[in-house]
Amino acid sequence: MSSASQPSLPVRLDPGNSNDLDGVMAIMTTAFDPGFGEGWSRSQCAGIMPLLGVIMTIARDELGQARGFALQRSIVGESELLLLAVHRSAQGCGIGGQLLDHFVDTGRASGATRLHLEVRDGNPATAMYQAFGFVAEGRRSNYYRGSDGRLFDAVTMVLDLNRE
Ligand SMILES: CC(C)(COP(=O)(O)OP(=O)(O)OC[C@H]1O[C@@H](n2cnc3c(N)ncnc32)[C@H](O)[C@@H]1OP(=O)(O)O)[C@@H](O)C(=O)NCCC(=O)NCCS
Repeated sequence: MSSASQPSLPVRLDPGNSNDLDGVMAIMTTAFDPGFGEGWSRSQCAGIMPLLGVIMTIARDELGQARGFALQRSIVGESELLLLAVHRSAQGCGIGGQLLDHFVDTGRASGATRLHLEVRDGNPATAMYQAFGFVAEGRRSNYYRGSDGRLFDAVTMVLDLNRE
């Protein structure tokens, strides 16, 4: 999914590992507004990455610099997008769409029939997920806690690959 009017920034998608945490955290810091509490800490990322079924994908520019990443977890028949972020300076250039495409493709290739994600109610990224066919399935009240203590709901979304 990419629009003709979008500027594009060529990236390649590489598997990531714990050695990429500096780049991942640099992106996390610019992409997520702490006021909404959606970003993860370095220790949360480091803790989940070695777990079975967890995959980090890094979008690298021509110089090899990380510009975006996706973190996903696959369990039998299901796959969940845990995080998706693009460095603020590189947003709107098609990188998030490529990472989301990759998530859908790898989920399908792994045999998953349902893909899941959670997004803060009101996050503009919801439009991108809907454009990929994800539909809202439920709500988790007060799921995110912003840096000032405010609470925000999460909307759970699902893409049913059997219905595509
Ligand atoms: C959401 C995010 C990953 C999108 O990445 P991106 O590289 O800017 O997105 P792209 O340029 O690939 O755009 C992909 C498509 O989604 C649409 N889109 C992206 N961000 C959008 C937004 N904020 N509002 C509406 N549409 C948006 C684009 O218009 C594009 O659609 P098109 O191909 O039909 O033109 C990025 O904005 C980001 O890191 N946001 C902060 C972190 C976040 O909220 N992540 C999601 C929750 S985990």
